[in-house]
Amino acid sequence: MSQRTVYFNGHFVPEGEARVSIFDSALMFGDMAFEMTRTYGQRPFKLKEHLDRLYASLKLLEIDCGLRQQEMERITLETLERNLPTEPDDMDWQIMHDVSRGPLGLYGSVFPEGVRPTVSINCWPLITHMGAFAPKYRSGVDIVIPAQQTLPAHLVDPKAKTRSRLHYQMAILQAARMGEGVWPVLLDPDGFLAEGPGWNIFLVKDGELLTPEPRNILIGVSRQTTIELAHELGIPVRETNLGRYEGLQANEMFCTATTFALVHATTFEGQTIGNGEPGPVFTQLREAWKQHAGIDFVTQAHDYAERLPAWTANAIAIPSD
Ligand SMILES: Cc1ncc(COP(=O)(O)O)c(C=O)c1O
Repeated sequence: MSQRTVYFNGHFVPEGEARVSIFDSALMFGDMAFEMTRTYGQRPFKLKEHLDRLYASLKLLEIDCGLRQQEMERITLETLERNLPTEPDDMDWQIMHDVSRGPLGLYGSVFPEGVRPTVSINCWPLITHMGAFAPKYRSGVDIVIPAQQTLPAHLVDPKAKTRSRLHYQMAILQAARMGEGVWPVLLDPDGFLAEGPGWNIFLVKDGELLTPEPRNILIGVSRQTTIELAHELGIPVRETNLGRYEGLQANEMFCTATTFALVHATTFEGQTIGNGEPGPVFTQLREAWKQHAGIDFVTQAHDYAERLPAWTANAIAIPSD
């Protein structure tokens, strides 16, 4: 058994015992809102912003999860507290919220206690994500435009963070065919750069920071943080329509997301960006990010990478079930 504890429908249960029904609306329709928050120094980073977004997603999906946001925050902190002792003090965590409408009413007879939304919060040590990610902080990432486009906001609004993510998965598969580890940036139906399957995109052109308008994208907490840091640093920022052409003209390009904060792109559509190294604006922003987070997350990721084989061997030796 893993030592970790999950909040699941009103109770704290061992991680291996938290199970969603095959009749759950999440499984049937991808009908689930979620959030992914991380800690820096074991403290949740921008939890309020993530929970604001979770509740905005739930409103769009018309799901009443039965918990007010303040209660959700309290339970989130308690879930984290319960899990911290299972790892060393220098371990940071992913905090995942998943909320679905619950089992479909049609199958209500299977649930004599009644049908209600499925609410879970789990915490996972970031050593696996960030240990595996660490080399990318040095190498950067290669970005391509896949055939798969993103969904326009008038069909399914990407501002809501939901598990309806087949289009992202298709984009990942298509990019993988273009080369190992290649990252896809999806175009919106107007042919403008939208976002990656789990990150937002920034370009730098002539010292100006450019990012897609918040129309057909998830408005990332890390995207917002990056914009705020750029303002503080006096870097001009513009939210605008950006196409393949602008991508190819960019002096710098980078991606932002909760887990890795920000990582530079080395190539776009097979062409080297700048000199292929992290550019000056990106480097300035990354240093500001580290200050803001209170942790050098790049050094931390490299440290996790070294410890990951032993951590994995130990986790396999203690199967979670
Ligand atoms: C589609 C999509 N875009 C952007 C992001 C980045 O958002 P954040 O910075 O809040 O992690 C995510 C994060 O999972 C995402 O799924």
